[in-house]
Amino acid sequence: MTPIYQAALNRLDAVPSFRLGHYPTPVEELPRLRQALGDQAPRLLAKRDDAISFAFGGNKVRKLELVLSEALAQNADTLVTIGGVHSNHVRVTASAAARAGLKCVLVINGSRPQRLSGNALLDELSGAEVQYVGSREERVPRMREVARQLEQAGHRPYQVPLGASTPLGALGYVRAVQELAAQGHPPHAIVVAASSGGTLAGLIAGIELAGLPIRVFGVSPDDPAGQIAATAAEIVHGVALLLGLDGKEFARGQKIVVDDGFVGEGYGIPTLASREAIALAAQTEGLYLDPTYTSKAMAALIAYVRDGRFGKEETVLFWHTGGQVELVA
Ligand SMILES: Cc1ncc(COP(=O)(O)O)c(C=O)c1O
Repeated sequence: MTPIYQAALNRLDAVPSFRLGHYPTPVEELPRLRQALGDQAPRLLAKRDDAISFAFGGNKVRKLELVLSEALAQNADTLVTIGGVHSNHVRVTASAAARAGLKCVLVINGSRPQRLSGNALLDELSGAEVQYVGSREERVPRMREVARQLEQAGHRPYQVPLGASTPLGALGYVRAVQELAAQGHPPHAIVVAASSGGTLAGLIAGIELAGLPIRVFGVSPDDPAGQIAATAAEIVHGVALLLGLDGKEFARGQKIVVDDGFVGEGYGIPTLASREAIALAAQTEGLYLDPTYTSKAMAALIAYVRDGRFGKEETVLFWHTGGQVELVA
């Protein structure tokens, strides 16, 4: 490892975080899924971030640990964030605020479901105040307005951007790569759901810093691949700056691969392939996927294996980012 990268990793160690989960999350073999995919299938593993112990887990917990720590360091008394009615990010932010003794205001596009279930139910159970707006575009202006009103009333709000996908939040996934490396033989490839880009950016930066030859495939549940890749590249740049590296040079060296071929009709709308992925993972491994993100990422993994994209001797890791609360909502 170069001294520059070593210094960056030392800086990473020094960034404070508010521990919500217990780590490492397990890495599990998926032998029956492998078998179901045929003779030529690579070895398959799952990194179980869905099993993070806090608030039904998922990738948002790792990001929130850093962001919450910064909010507390700034003496915030309220977290404000945005998302959709069934957002996993919103659920974890509301739960993290409760755990840290902070107030929480959620700005959500859509309308309050008549029967609360899944994330929408957990948001209210955690004591967060929920404000509904008519469209995605109205969320950020309303969040700013809420923060302004809170300040006027003598509070100290901290605004958490969509998905906590800031460079600081993404450091959670730089750390997660260190965790994976310490768990033994790293895979040849990782397949992961990517939307607001923080998870993908953290993985890519972490893999580069660790000097591991791992290809990463981000799979979109919603936006065009170019858009997610551009956002992830910006976050990688920001991560590098936070770690004292030359942001431009570091980001330029990274190849960011995002596949939007599994979105289907749109965000949260199942496809034949995502339904098959949910059924196959459940029936071969007792592994449950969520209907919006991980089922489409697993659909991609299955298609890649069937297309012969990986060698039989290779190891492919499915990074499970959680969200199953919505499978049974
Ligand atoms: C379950 C799940 N997986 C993956 C993602 C995508 O992660 P990111 O927003 O960091 O790209 C999200 C959030 O959007 C999610 O809730």
